Amino acid sequence: MNFIKTAVVALLALVALHQSEGNSTFQTQQNQCTREQHRLRYHVSPAEHWINDPNGMVYYDGVYHLFYQYHPYDTVWGPMHWGHTISTDLVAWTELPIALYPDEIGDIFSGSSVVDFTNSTGFQTNPDIAPIVAIYTSAGGEGQRQSIAYSNDKAMTFTKYEGNPVLTDPNSGDFRDPKVRKLLNGKWVMALAVGNKIEFFGSDDLKTWNKLSEFGADPEQGSHGGVWECPDLFPLNVTLAAGVTLEMWVLIVSINPGGPNRGSAAQYFVGDFNGTHFISNPWVNTQWLDWGPDNYAAVTFSNEPQNRVIAMGWMNNWLYANNLPTVAWRGQMTIPRTLELRDLNQTSNPIRLTSVPTSELEALRNPLEYVGNNAEFTVPPQTVIQLTEQATFKNPAMELEITLEITEQPGFSLCAYNAGGEEICFGFNETRWYLDRSKTGNTGFNQEYAGTLYATAPREITAEEMKIRVFLDVSSFEVFADDGLTSMTSLFYANEPLDMLYLNHWSDAGSSATLKVKNFKVWGLVCWVQERTKN
Ligand SMILES: *[C@@H]1O[C@H](CO)[C@@H](O)[C@H](O)[C@H]1NC(C)=O
Ligand SMILES: *[C@@H]1O[C@H](CO)[C@@H](O)[C@H](O)[C@H]1NC(C)=O
Ligand SMILES: *[C@@H]1O[C@H](CO)[C@@H](O)[C@H](O)[C@H]1NC(C)=O
Ligand SMILES: *[C@@H]1O[C@H](CO)[C@@H](O)[C@H](O)[C@H]1NC(C)=O
Ligand SMILES: *[C@@H]1O[C@H](CO)[C@@H](O)[C@H](O)[C@H]1NC(C)=O
Ligand SMILES: *[C@@H]1O[C@H](CO)[C@@H](O)[C@H](O)[C@H]1NC(C)=O
Repeated sequence: MNFIKTAVVALLALVALHQSEGNSTFQTQQNQCTREQHRLRYHVSPAEHWINDPNGMVYYDGVYHLFYQYHPYDTVWGPMHWGHTISTDLVAWTELPIALYPDEIGDIFSGSSVVDFTNSTGFQTNPDIAPIVAIYTSAGGEGQRQSIAYSNDKAMTFTKYEGNPVLTDPNSGDFRDPKVRKLLNGKWVMALAVGNKIEFFGSDDLKTWNKLSEFGADPEQGSHGGVWECPDLFPLNVTLAAGVTLEMWVLIVSINPGGPNRGSAAQYFVGDFNGTHFISNPWVNTQWLDWGPDNYAAVTFSNEPQNRVIAMGWMNNWLYANNLPTVAWRGQMTIPRTLELRDLNQTSNPIRLTSVPTSELEALRNPLEYVGNNAEFTVPPQTVIQLTEQATFKNPAMELEITLEITEQPGFSLCAYNAGGEEICFGFNETRWYLDRSKTGNTGFNQEYAGTLYATAPREITAEEMKIRVFLDVSSFEVFADDGLTSMTSLFYANEPLDMLYLNHWSDAGSSATLKVKNFKVWGLVCWVQERTKN
Protein backbone atom coordinates (compact mmCIF):
# COMPACT_ATOMS: atom_id res chain seq x y z
CA MET A 1 0.00 0.00 0.00
CA ASN A 2 1.15 3.51 -0.67
CA PHE A 3 1.47 5.33 2.61
CA ILE A 4 1.29 8.77 1.03
CA LYS A 5 -2.21 8.14 -0.31
CA THR A 6 -3.54 6.65 2.89
CA ALA A 7 -5.65 8.48 5.39
CA VAL A 8 -3.57 9.08 8.45
CA VAL A 9 -5.23 9.17 11.81
CA ALA A 10 -3.11 11.37 13.97
CA LEU A 11 -2.85 10.05 17.46
CA LEU A 12 -0.55 12.73 18.68
CA ALA A 13 -2.59 13.22 21.81
CA LEU A 14 -1.92 9.65 22.86
CA VAL A 15 1.73 9.75 22.07
CA ALA A 16 4.22 10.81 24.67
CA LEU A 17 7.38 11.91 23.00
CA HIS A 18 10.39 12.28 25.21
CA GLN A 19 13.06 14.27 23.57
CA SER A 20 15.38 16.53 25.45
CA GLU A 21 17.70 18.84 23.66
CA GLY A 22 21.40 19.31 23.64
CA ASN A 23 22.61 16.02 25.12
CA SER A 24 26.01 16.14 23.56
CA THR A 25 27.00 12.56 24.42
CA PHE A 26 24.28 11.09 22.28
CA GLN A 27 24.45 13.70 19.56
CA THR A 28 28.14 13.06 19.11
CA GLN A 29 27.48 9.35 18.94
CA GLN A 30 24.86 9.83 16.26
CA ASN A 31 27.03 12.25 14.29
CA GLN A 32 29.79 9.69 14.05
CA CYS A 33 27.46 7.08 12.58
CA THR A 34 28.66 5.60 9.36
CA ARG A 35 27.20 7.24 6.28
CA GLU A 36 28.25 4.43 3.95
CA GLN A 37 25.26 3.31 1.87
CA HIS A 38 23.48 0.25 3.34
CA ARG A 39 26.09 -0.07 6.13
CA LEU A 40 24.53 -1.60 9.22
CA ARG A 41 24.83 0.47 12.39
CA TYR A 42 24.71 -2.16 15.10
CA HIS A 43 25.24 -5.47 13.33
CA VAL A 44 28.55 -7.22 12.70
CA SER A 45 29.83 -6.59 9.18
CA PRO A 46 33.47 -6.49 8.08
CA ALA A 47 35.05 -3.16 7.16
CA GLU A 48 35.86 -4.66 3.78
CA HIS A 49 35.41 -7.84 1.76
CA TRP A 50 33.35 -10.99 2.00
CA ILE A 51 32.12 -12.89 5.06
CA ASN A 52 29.80 -15.86 5.51
CA ASP A 53 29.15 -18.38 8.32
CA PRO A 54 29.83 -17.41 11.94
CA ASN A 55 32.58 -19.69 13.31
CA GLY A 56 34.32 -20.54 16.56
CA MET A 57 31.97 -18.53 18.77
CA VAL A 58 33.40 -18.69 22.28
CA TYR A 59 33.50 -16.65 25.47
CA TYR A 60 36.61 -16.45 27.61
CA ASP A 61 37.78 -14.07 30.33
CA GLY A 62 35.32 -11.25 29.67
CA VAL A 63 35.39 -11.40 25.89
CA TYR A 64 33.01 -12.87 23.32
CA HIS A 65 34.91 -14.02 20.22
CA LEU A 66 33.15 -14.29 16.91
CA PHE A 67 35.14 -15.68 14.00
CA TYR A 68 33.69 -15.96 10.54
CA GLN A 69 34.31 -17.28 7.06
CA TYR A 70 36.29 -14.48 5.45
CA HIS A 71 37.71 -13.82 2.02
CA PRO A 72 40.12 -10.91 2.54
CA TYR A 73 40.80 -10.20 -1.14
CA ASP A 74 37.33 -9.84 -2.65
CA THR A 75 33.65 -9.19 -1.99
CA VAL A 76 32.59 -12.61 -3.31
CA TRP A 77 33.22 -16.05 -1.82
CA GLY A 78 36.77 -17.34 -2.34
CA PRO A 79 39.61 -19.05 -0.42
CA MET A 80 38.36 -19.07 3.14
CA HIS A 81 40.13 -17.64 6.19
CA TRP A 82 38.77 -17.14 9.70
CA GLY A 83 38.18 -13.43 10.29
CA HIS A 84 37.85 -12.34 13.92
CA THR A 85 35.79 -9.81 15.86
CA ILE A 86 35.35 -9.42 19.62
CA SER A 87 32.91 -7.87 22.07
CA THR A 88 32.70 -7.51 25.83
CA ASP A 89 28.93 -6.96 25.80
CA LEU A 90 27.48 -8.56 22.62
CA VAL A 91 26.57 -5.02 21.50
CA ALA A 92 29.71 -3.29 20.18
CA TRP A 93 32.27 -5.32 18.23
CA THR A 94 35.91 -4.66 17.32
CA GLU A 95 37.42 -6.27 14.23
CA LEU A 96 40.80 -7.92 14.81
CA PRO A 97 43.40 -9.33 12.41
CA ILE A 98 42.68 -12.59 10.57
CA ALA A 99 42.90 -15.53 12.98
CA LEU A 100 43.49 -18.48 10.62
CA TYR A 101 45.00 -18.49 7.12
CA PRO A 102 44.79 -21.29 4.55
CA ASP A 103 47.68 -23.76 4.73
CA GLU A 104 49.03 -26.78 2.85
CA ILE A 105 46.08 -28.90 4.02
CA GLY A 106 43.53 -26.51 2.62
CA ASP A 107 41.37 -23.46 3.13
CA ILE A 108 39.82 -22.84 6.54
CA PHE A 109 36.13 -23.74 6.39
CA SER A 110 33.56 -23.48 9.19
CA GLY A 111 33.97 -24.85 12.70
CA SER A 112 33.80 -24.08 16.39
CA SER A 113 36.00 -23.23 19.38
CA VAL A 114 36.11 -24.55 22.92
CA VAL A 115 37.99 -23.61 26.08
CA ASP A 116 40.08 -26.54 27.29
CA PHE A 117 39.88 -25.88 31.03
CA THR A 118 41.40 -29.27 31.97
CA ASN A 119 44.36 -29.22 29.56
CA SER A 120 42.90 -32.35 27.98
CA THR A 121 44.83 -31.49 24.83
CA GLY A 122 48.16 -30.93 26.57
CA PHE A 123 48.33 -27.59 24.72
CA GLN A 124 48.30 -25.42 27.85
CA THR A 125 51.51 -23.51 28.57
CA ASN A 126 50.39 -20.95 31.17
CA PRO A 127 48.64 -22.32 34.27
CA ASP A 128 46.51 -19.15 34.44
CA ILE A 129 45.29 -19.18 30.84
CA ALA A 130 43.27 -22.07 29.46
CA PRO A 131 43.88 -22.91 25.81
CA ILE A 132 41.19 -21.99 23.31
CA VAL A 133 41.02 -24.68 20.66
CA ALA A 134 39.51 -24.08 17.23
CA ILE A 135 38.15 -27.14 15.43
CA TYR A 136 37.55 -26.45 11.74
CA THR A 137 37.32 -28.05 8.32
CA SER A 138 40.41 -28.02 6.12
CA ALA A 139 39.19 -27.99 2.51
CA GLY A 140 41.89 -28.83 0.00
CA GLY A 141 43.05 -31.21 -2.69
CA GLU A 142 42.37 -34.25 -0.54
CA GLY A 143 38.83 -33.15 0.24
CA GLN A 144 37.24 -32.01 3.48
CA ARG A 145 38.96 -33.04 6.72
CA GLN A 146 38.86 -31.72 10.29
CA SER A 147 41.82 -29.88 11.82
CA ILE A 148 42.55 -28.06 15.08
CA ALA A 149 44.51 -24.97 16.14
CA TYR A 150 45.13 -23.69 19.66
CA SER A 151 45.70 -20.38 21.38
CA ASN A 152 47.47 -19.80 24.68
CA ASP A 153 46.93 -16.04 24.59
CA LYS A 154 43.13 -15.86 24.85
CA ALA A 155 42.48 -16.28 21.12
CA MET A 156 44.75 -13.46 19.97
CA THR A 157 47.03 -15.84 18.03
CA PHE A 158 46.60 -19.49 17.02
CA THR A 159 49.06 -22.30 16.36
CA LYS A 160 47.99 -25.11 14.05
CA TYR A 161 48.41 -28.58 15.54
CA GLU A 162 51.25 -30.48 13.83
CA GLY A 163 49.13 -33.65 13.70
CA ASN A 164 46.46 -32.13 11.40
CA PRO A 165 44.12 -33.27 10.04
CA VAL A 166 42.62 -35.01 13.07
CA LEU A 167 39.53 -36.52 11.40
CA THR A 168 39.25 -37.78 7.84
CA ASP A 169 36.86 -39.92 5.82
CA PRO A 170 37.93 -40.56 2.23
CA ASN A 171 34.42 -41.79 1.40
CA SER A 172 32.66 -38.57 2.32
CA GLY A 173 32.76 -35.58 -0.01
CA ASP A 174 30.69 -33.22 2.13
CA PHE A 175 32.35 -33.70 5.52
CA ARG A 176 32.45 -30.43 7.41
CA ASP A 177 31.48 -27.80 9.99
CA PRO A 178 32.55 -29.48 13.27
CA LYS A 179 30.73 -28.14 16.35
CA VAL A 180 32.27 -29.40 19.57
CA ARG A 181 31.07 -29.29 23.16
CA LYS A 182 32.15 -30.93 26.40
CA LEU A 183 29.77 -33.36 28.09
CA LEU A 184 29.38 -33.60 31.85
CA ASN A 185 31.40 -36.85 31.80
CA GLY A 186 34.40 -34.93 30.47
CA LYS A 187 34.21 -36.29 26.93
CA TRP A 188 34.23 -34.03 23.91
CA VAL A 189 31.49 -34.61 21.35
CA MET A 190 31.51 -33.30 17.79
CA ALA A 191 28.48 -32.84 15.53
CA LEU A 192 29.57 -32.91 11.89
CA ALA A 193 27.59 -32.36 8.68
CA VAL A 194 28.11 -35.28 6.31
CA GLY A 195 26.10 -34.95 3.10
CA ASN A 196 22.46 -35.06 4.10
CA LYS A 197 22.97 -36.26 7.66
CA ILE A 198 24.79 -35.47 10.90
CA GLU A 199 27.53 -37.72 12.30
CA PHE A 200 28.60 -37.59 15.95
CA PHE A 201 32.17 -38.25 17.04
CA GLY A 202 33.70 -38.52 20.50
CA SER A 203 37.16 -37.66 21.86
CA ASP A 204 39.11 -37.33 25.10
CA ASP A 205 41.72 -34.89 23.77
CA LEU A 206 40.29 -33.23 20.61
CA LYS A 207 43.04 -35.00 18.62
CA THR A 208 41.71 -38.55 18.31
CA TRP A 209 38.09 -39.00 17.31
CA ASN A 210 35.86 -42.05 17.07
CA LYS A 211 32.47 -42.20 15.43
CA LEU A 212 29.57 -42.53 17.85
CA SER A 213 26.44 -42.45 15.74
CA GLU A 214 24.59 -40.65 12.99
CA PHE A 215 21.26 -38.89 12.64
CA GLY A 216 19.02 -37.72 9.85
CA ALA A 217 19.70 -40.00 6.86
CA ASP A 218 16.03 -41.01 7.10
CA PRO A 219 14.18 -38.72 4.65
CA GLU A 220 11.36 -38.46 7.20
CA GLN A 221 13.72 -36.67 9.60
CA GLY A 222 13.43 -32.97 8.87
CA SER A 223 13.90 -31.28 5.55
CA HIS A 224 16.15 -32.80 2.89
CA GLY A 225 15.68 -30.19 0.20
CA GLY A 226 19.43 -29.48 0.16
CA VAL A 227 22.79 -30.32 1.73
CA TRP A 228 23.02 -30.32 5.54
CA GLU A 229 25.53 -27.92 7.08
CA CYS A 230 26.60 -26.21 10.30
CA PRO A 231 25.09 -28.43 13.01
CA ASP A 232 24.93 -27.44 16.67
CA LEU A 233 23.95 -29.73 19.55
CA PHE A 234 23.15 -28.36 23.01
CA PRO A 235 20.98 -29.08 26.06
CA LEU A 236 18.25 -26.74 27.30
CA ASN A 237 15.83 -27.05 30.18
CA VAL A 238 12.14 -26.72 29.50
CA THR A 239 9.40 -26.28 32.07
CA LEU A 240 6.50 -28.42 30.94
CA ALA A 241 2.91 -27.26 31.31
CA ALA A 242 2.60 -29.93 34.00
CA GLY A 243 5.16 -27.96 36.04
CA VAL A 244 8.08 -30.37 35.74
CA THR A 245 11.42 -29.09 34.45
CA LEU A 246 13.12 -31.38 31.99
CA GLU A 247 16.47 -31.24 30.23
CA MET A 248 16.15 -31.80 26.48
CA TRP A 249 18.66 -31.62 23.65
CA VAL A 250 18.37 -29.46 20.57
CA LEU A 251 20.08 -30.14 17.24
CA ILE A 252 20.21 -27.23 14.81
CA VAL A 253 20.97 -28.12 11.19
CA SER A 254 21.28 -25.58 8.42
CA ILE A 255 20.10 -26.59 4.98
CA ASN A 256 20.87 -25.16 1.55
CA PRO A 257 18.67 -24.93 -0.42
CA GLY A 258 15.32 -26.13 0.96
CA GLY A 259 14.36 -23.31 3.33
CA PRO A 260 10.68 -22.61 4.04
CA ASN A 261 10.75 -19.49 1.89
CA ARG A 262 13.40 -20.66 -0.62
CA GLY A 263 17.14 -20.94 -0.41
CA SER A 264 19.18 -21.26 2.80
CA ALA A 265 17.67 -21.69 6.27
CA ALA A 266 18.15 -23.51 9.57
CA GLN A 267 15.94 -26.28 10.90
CA TYR A 268 16.00 -27.76 14.39
CA PHE A 269 15.15 -30.99 16.16
CA VAL A 270 14.29 -31.42 19.84
CA GLY A 271 14.97 -34.72 21.56
CA ASP A 272 17.48 -36.47 23.74
CA PHE A 273 21.23 -37.09 23.57
CA ASN A 274 22.52 -39.90 25.76
CA GLY A 275 26.23 -39.31 25.27
CA THR A 276 26.46 -41.13 21.97
CA HIS A 277 23.09 -40.97 20.17
CA PHE A 278 20.68 -38.16 19.38
CA ILE A 279 17.06 -39.29 19.29
CA SER A 280 14.62 -36.75 17.91
CA ASN A 281 11.05 -36.54 19.10
CA PRO A 282 8.98 -38.12 16.34
CA TRP A 283 7.49 -35.00 14.86
CA VAL A 284 6.28 -34.81 11.32
CA ASN A 285 6.73 -31.14 10.49
CA THR A 286 10.13 -29.57 10.03
CA GLN A 287 10.77 -26.93 12.67
CA TRP A 288 12.48 -23.75 11.48
CA LEU A 289 14.70 -21.55 13.58
CA ASP A 290 13.78 -18.53 11.45
CA TRP A 291 11.19 -18.22 8.67
CA GLY A 292 12.70 -15.20 6.96
CA PRO A 293 15.00 -15.47 3.96
CA ASP A 294 18.18 -14.28 5.70
CA ASN A 295 19.34 -16.32 8.66
CA TYR A 296 21.74 -19.13 7.71
CA ALA A 297 24.40 -21.16 9.51
CA ALA A 298 23.28 -20.02 12.96
CA VAL A 299 25.33 -21.55 15.77
CA THR A 300 25.85 -20.77 19.46
CA PHE A 301 28.61 -19.51 21.78
CA SER A 302 30.47 -22.04 23.86
CA ASN A 303 31.33 -21.28 27.51
CA GLU A 304 28.63 -18.59 27.75
CA PRO A 305 29.17 -17.11 31.24
CA GLN A 306 25.50 -17.09 32.26
CA ASN A 307 24.96 -20.54 30.78
CA ARG A 308 22.66 -19.04 28.17
CA VAL A 309 22.38 -20.43 24.64
CA ILE A 310 23.13 -17.47 22.38
CA ALA A 311 23.03 -17.87 18.61
CA MET A 312 24.11 -15.64 15.76
CA GLY A 313 23.55 -16.44 12.09
CA TRP A 314 24.93 -15.26 8.79
CA MET A 315 22.26 -12.74 7.76
CA ASN A 316 22.16 -13.78 4.11
CA ASN A 317 20.99 -16.43 1.67
CA TRP A 318 23.12 -18.36 -0.83
CA LEU A 319 20.52 -17.64 -3.54
CA TYR A 320 21.89 -14.11 -3.94
CA ALA A 321 24.70 -13.69 -1.37
CA ASN A 322 27.41 -12.98 -3.96
CA ASN A 323 25.33 -10.16 -5.49
CA LEU A 324 24.20 -8.05 -2.53
CA PRO A 325 24.39 -4.38 -3.61
CA THR A 326 26.89 -3.37 -0.93
CA VAL A 327 30.20 -1.95 -2.13
CA ALA A 328 33.10 -2.24 0.31
CA TRP A 329 31.89 -5.42 2.00
CA ARG A 330 29.48 -8.31 1.55
CA GLY A 331 27.93 -10.24 4.42
CA GLN A 332 26.71 -9.54 7.95
CA MET A 333 25.51 -11.34 11.07
CA THR A 334 22.10 -11.32 12.74
CA ILE A 335 21.80 -9.77 16.17
CA PRO A 336 22.63 -12.24 18.97
CA ARG A 337 19.55 -14.20 20.06
CA THR A 338 18.91 -16.13 23.25
CA LEU A 339 17.41 -19.55 22.51
CA GLU A 340 15.00 -21.25 24.90
CA LEU A 341 12.52 -24.11 24.83
CA ARG A 342 8.81 -23.58 25.41
CA ASP A 343 6.05 -26.10 25.97
CA LEU A 344 2.99 -25.05 23.97
CA ASN A 345 0.88 -27.56 25.88
CA GLN A 346 -0.68 -29.02 22.75
CA THR A 347 -0.85 -32.59 21.53
CA SER A 348 1.30 -32.31 18.42
CA ASN A 349 4.72 -30.64 18.31
CA PRO A 350 4.44 -29.22 21.83
CA ILE A 351 8.10 -28.26 22.45
CA ARG A 352 9.42 -25.33 20.47
CA LEU A 353 12.70 -23.47 20.30
CA THR A 354 12.20 -19.73 20.76
CA SER A 355 14.57 -16.90 19.77
CA VAL A 356 14.63 -13.51 21.48
CA PRO A 357 17.17 -10.69 21.17
CA THR A 358 19.76 -11.01 23.95
CA SER A 359 18.97 -8.65 26.81
CA GLU A 360 22.29 -6.80 26.34
CA LEU A 361 20.85 -5.18 23.20
CA GLU A 362 18.73 -2.89 25.38
CA ALA A 363 21.92 -0.85 25.71
CA LEU A 364 21.37 0.28 22.12
CA ARG A 365 18.20 2.18 23.07
CA ASN A 366 18.71 5.91 22.90
CA PRO A 367 16.71 7.45 25.73
CA LEU A 368 16.53 10.69 23.77
CA GLU A 369 14.65 9.05 20.94
CA TYR A 370 11.71 7.31 22.46
CA VAL A 371 8.03 7.29 21.67
CA GLY A 372 5.57 5.13 23.53
CA ASN A 373 2.01 4.74 24.62
CA ASN A 374 0.68 2.66 27.47
CA ALA A 375 -3.01 3.51 26.98
CA GLU A 376 -5.04 1.05 24.92
CA PHE A 377 -6.66 2.23 21.73
CA THR A 378 -8.54 0.58 18.87
CA VAL A 379 -7.57 0.91 15.24
CA PRO A 380 -10.60 0.68 12.92
CA PRO A 381 -10.30 -1.25 9.63
CA GLN A 382 -8.64 0.64 6.76
CA THR A 383 -6.71 2.88 9.10
CA VAL A 384 -3.04 3.74 9.33
CA ILE A 385 -1.45 4.89 12.57
CA GLN A 386 1.94 6.52 12.64
CA LEU A 387 4.13 5.09 15.37
CA THR A 388 6.89 7.63 14.85
CA GLU A 389 6.37 11.25 14.00
CA GLN A 390 8.01 12.51 10.89
CA ALA A 391 8.69 15.96 12.31
CA THR A 392 10.36 14.95 15.51
CA PHE A 393 12.00 11.57 15.32
CA LYS A 394 13.44 9.69 12.37
CA ASN A 395 16.06 7.01 12.63
CA PRO A 396 17.15 4.24 10.24
CA ALA A 397 17.94 2.09 13.31
CA MET A 398 14.99 1.47 15.61
CA GLU A 399 13.48 -1.07 17.95
CA LEU A 400 9.71 -1.48 18.18
CA GLU A 401 7.94 -3.37 20.94
CA ILE A 402 4.20 -3.64 20.46
CA THR A 403 1.35 -5.66 21.94
CA LEU A 404 -1.73 -6.06 19.80
CA GLU A 405 -5.01 -7.83 20.30
CA ILE A 406 -6.97 -9.01 17.33
CA THR A 407 -10.28 -10.66 16.58
CA GLU A 408 -11.89 -12.07 13.46
CA GLN A 409 -9.62 -12.77 10.54
CA PRO A 410 -7.88 -9.46 10.69
CA GLY A 411 -5.04 -8.28 8.63
CA PHE A 412 -2.50 -5.74 9.78
CA SER A 413 1.05 -4.75 9.03
CA LEU A 414 3.87 -3.00 10.84
CA CYS A 415 6.03 -1.15 8.36
CA ALA A 416 9.26 0.79 8.32
CA TYR A 417 9.03 3.42 5.59
CA ASN A 418 10.55 6.56 4.17
CA ALA A 419 9.17 9.75 2.64
CA GLY A 420 9.72 8.32 -0.83
CA GLY A 421 7.15 5.55 -0.31
CA GLU A 422 9.65 2.72 0.14
CA GLU A 423 8.73 0.30 2.92
CA ILE A 424 9.27 -3.12 4.47
CA CYS A 425 6.38 -4.74 6.34
CA PHE A 426 5.77 -7.52 8.81
CA GLY A 427 2.14 -8.47 9.14
CA PHE A 428 -0.56 -10.95 9.97
CA ASN A 429 -2.99 -12.32 7.38
CA GLU A 430 -5.78 -14.59 8.69
CA THR A 431 -3.60 -17.35 10.13
CA ARG A 432 -0.10 -16.56 8.93
CA TRP A 433 2.62 -14.02 9.54
CA TYR A 434 4.16 -12.44 6.49
CA LEU A 435 7.18 -10.37 5.64
CA ASP A 436 7.02 -8.21 2.53
CA ARG A 437 10.13 -6.52 1.15
CA SER A 438 8.69 -5.98 -2.35
CA LYS A 439 8.67 -2.16 -1.99
CA THR A 440 12.13 -1.68 -0.57
CA GLY A 441 13.76 0.03 -3.55
CA ASN A 442 16.54 -2.06 -5.05
CA THR A 443 14.83 -5.44 -5.42
CA GLY A 444 16.18 -6.26 -8.87
CA PHE A 445 19.92 -6.69 -8.29
CA ASN A 446 19.53 -10.42 -8.64
CA GLN A 447 16.79 -12.57 -10.16
CA GLU A 448 16.73 -14.96 -7.21
CA TYR A 449 16.40 -12.10 -4.75
CA ALA A 450 13.48 -10.80 -6.78
CA GLY A 451 11.83 -14.19 -6.19
CA THR A 452 12.09 -13.92 -2.39
CA LEU A 453 10.29 -10.66 -1.71
CA TYR A 454 7.34 -12.15 0.18
CA ALA A 455 7.76 -14.74 2.94
CA THR A 456 5.17 -16.29 5.24
CA ALA A 457 5.13 -18.37 8.42
CA PRO A 458 2.33 -20.09 10.30
CA ARG A 459 1.30 -18.51 13.58
CA GLU A 460 1.96 -21.23 16.16
CA ILE A 461 -0.65 -20.23 18.76
CA THR A 462 -4.14 -18.75 18.64
CA ALA A 463 -4.03 -16.37 21.61
CA GLU A 464 -5.70 -13.04 20.82
CA GLU A 465 -2.79 -11.12 22.26
CA MET A 466 0.25 -10.77 20.01
CA LYS A 467 3.58 -9.48 21.25
CA ILE A 468 5.91 -8.37 18.48
CA ARG A 469 9.45 -6.96 18.58
CA VAL A 470 11.15 -5.52 15.53
CA PHE A 471 14.82 -4.59 15.11
CA LEU A 472 15.35 -2.28 12.16
CA ASP A 473 18.80 -1.38 10.84
CA VAL A 474 19.85 0.45 7.68
CA SER A 475 19.50 -2.70 5.55
CA SER A 476 17.98 -5.34 7.83
CA PHE A 477 14.67 -6.10 9.52
CA GLU A 478 14.44 -8.77 12.25
CA VAL A 479 11.09 -9.68 13.77
CA PHE A 480 10.30 -11.74 16.87
CA ALA A 481 6.62 -12.60 17.35
CA ASP A 482 4.81 -14.32 20.23
CA ASP A 483 7.84 -14.02 22.52
CA GLY A 484 10.18 -15.47 19.95
CA LEU A 485 8.04 -18.41 18.82
CA THR A 486 8.32 -17.12 15.26
CA SER A 487 11.25 -15.10 14.02
CA MET A 488 11.68 -13.69 10.52
CA THR A 489 14.88 -12.04 9.31
CA SER A 490 15.22 -10.06 6.10
CA LEU A 491 17.75 -7.89 4.34
CA PHE A 492 16.57 -4.98 2.17
CA TYR A 493 18.19 -2.30 0.05
CA ALA A 494 16.20 0.94 0.05
CA ASN A 495 17.30 4.01 -1.91
CA GLU A 496 16.82 6.16 1.18
CA PRO A 497 16.79 4.93 4.79
CA LEU A 498 13.49 3.58 6.11
CA ASP A 499 13.38 5.81 9.17
CA MET A 500 9.75 5.93 10.31
CA LEU A 501 7.19 3.32 11.41
CA TYR A 502 3.46 2.89 10.90
CA LEU A 503 0.78 0.34 11.76
CA ASN A 504 -1.83 -0.41 9.10
CA HIS A 505 -5.06 -2.20 9.97
CA TRP A 506 -5.96 -3.25 6.45
CA SER A 507 -8.99 -5.50 7.12
CA ASP A 508 -11.96 -4.78 4.81
CA ALA A 509 -13.88 -1.61 5.48
CA GLY A 510 -17.13 -2.44 7.23
CA SER A 511 -15.82 -5.73 8.64
CA SER A 512 -16.26 -6.21 12.34
CA ALA A 513 -12.57 -7.03 12.77
CA THR A 514 -11.04 -5.15 15.64
CA LEU A 515 -7.39 -4.41 16.23
CA LYS A 516 -6.46 -3.11 19.63
CA VAL A 517 -3.06 -1.60 20.40
CA LYS A 518 -2.44 -2.44 24.05
CA ASN A 519 0.86 -0.57 24.19
CA PHE A 520 3.85 0.21 22.08
CA LYS A 521 7.38 1.50 22.49
CA VAL A 522 9.81 2.72 19.86
CA TRP A 523 13.45 3.56 20.47
CA GLY A 524 15.96 5.04 18.12
CA LEU A 525 19.07 2.87 18.44
CA VAL A 526 22.53 4.30 18.88
CA CYS A 527 25.14 3.11 16.43
CA TRP A 528 28.48 1.62 17.33
CA VAL A 529 29.54 1.34 13.71
CA GLN A 530 31.14 4.73 13.20
CA GLU A 531 32.33 6.62 10.18
CA ARG A 532 35.41 4.85 8.87
CA THR A 533 38.20 6.76 7.22
CA LYS A 534 39.58 4.72 4.37
CA ASN A 535 43.20 5.02 3.34
C1 LIG B 1 22.93 12.26 28.07
O1 LIG B 1 22.19 11.05 28.14
C2 LIG B 1 22.92 9.98 28.71
C3 LIG B 1 22.04 8.74 28.65
O2 LIG B 1 20.83 8.97 29.28
C4 LIG B 1 23.30 10.32 30.15
O3 LIG B 1 24.09 9.26 30.67
C5 LIG B 1 24.11 11.60 30.15
O4 LIG B 1 24.36 11.96 31.49
C6 LIG B 1 23.33 12.72 29.46
N1 LIG B 1 24.17 13.90 29.37
C7 LIG B 1 23.73 15.11 29.64
C8 LIG B 1 24.71 16.22 29.48
O5 LIG B 1 22.57 15.32 30.00
C1 LIG C 1 49.38 -29.42 29.85
O1 LIG C 1 49.65 -30.76 29.53
C2 LIG C 1 50.93 -30.94 28.92
C3 LIG C 1 51.01 -32.39 28.46
O2 LIG C 1 50.68 -33.22 29.52
C4 LIG C 1 52.00 -30.58 29.93
O3 LIG C 1 53.26 -30.70 29.32
C5 LIG C 1 51.80 -29.13 30.35
O4 LIG C 1 52.71 -28.79 31.36
C6 LIG C 1 50.40 -28.93 30.87
N1 LIG C 1 50.21 -27.51 31.13
C7 LIG C 1 49.94 -27.02 32.32
C8 LIG C 1 49.83 -25.54 32.45
O5 LIG C 1 49.80 -27.74 33.30
C1 LIG D 1 18.68 -28.06 33.98
O1 LIG D 1 18.33 -27.90 35.34
C2 LIG D 1 19.11 -28.70 36.22
C3 LIG D 1 18.54 -28.53 37.60
O2 LIG D 1 18.48 -27.19 37.95
C4 LIG D 1 20.57 -28.26 36.13
O3 LIG D 1 21.37 -29.07 36.96
C5 LIG D 1 21.03 -28.38 34.70
O4 LIG D 1 22.35 -27.87 34.57
C6 LIG D 1 20.12 -27.62 33.77
N1 LIG D 1 20.51 -27.88 32.40
C7 LIG D 1 20.73 -26.90 31.54
C8 LIG D 1 21.06 -27.32 30.16
O5 LIG D 1 20.65 -25.72 31.82
C1 LIG E 1 -2.42 -27.77 29.46
O1 LIG E 1 -3.47 -28.39 28.75
C2 LIG E 1 -4.35 -29.16 29.55
C3 LIG E 1 -5.31 -29.90 28.64
O2 LIG E 1 -5.88 -29.03 27.73
C4 LIG E 1 -5.07 -28.21 30.53
O3 LIG E 1 -5.93 -28.95 31.36
C5 LIG E 1 -4.01 -27.50 31.38
O4 LIG E 1 -4.64 -26.53 32.21
C6 LIG E 1 -2.99 -26.80 30.51
N1 LIG E 1 -1.90 -26.30 31.33
C7 LIG E 1 -1.43 -25.06 31.23
C8 LIG E 1 -0.31 -24.70 32.17
O5 LIG E 1 -1.86 -24.26 30.44
C1 LIG F 1 22.18 -44.46 23.76
O1 LIG F 1 21.16 -44.74 22.81
C2 LIG F 1 21.53 -45.75 21.87
C3 LIG F 1 20.41 -45.84 20.83
O2 LIG F 1 19.17 -45.99 21.45
C4 LIG F 1 21.77 -47.05 22.59
O3 LIG F 1 22.18 -48.04 21.67
C5 LIG F 1 22.86 -46.83 23.64
O4 LIG F 1 23.03 -48.01 24.40
C6 LIG F 1 22.48 -45.71 24.56
N1 LIG F 1 23.59 -45.41 25.46
C7 LIG F 1 23.41 -45.24 26.76
C8 LIG F 1 24.65 -44.91 27.57
O5 LIG F 1 22.32 -45.28 27.28
C1 LIG G 1 -3.43 -12.13 2.44
O1 LIG G 1 -3.59 -13.46 1.95
C2 LIG G 1 -4.33 -13.51 0.73
C3 LIG G 1 -4.60 -14.97 0.41
O2 LIG G 1 -3.41 -15.70 0.42
C4 LIG G 1 -3.53 -12.81 -0.36
O3 LIG G 1 -4.24 -12.82 -1.57
C5 LIG G 1 -3.28 -11.38 0.08
O4 LIG G 1 -2.44 -10.73 -0.87
C6 LIG G 1 -2.63 -11.32 1.44
N1 LIG G 1 -2.52 -9.93 1.86
C7 LIG G 1 -1.38 -9.38 2.31
C8 LIG G 1 -1.46 -7.94 2.67
O5 LIG G 1 -0.35 -9.98 2.41
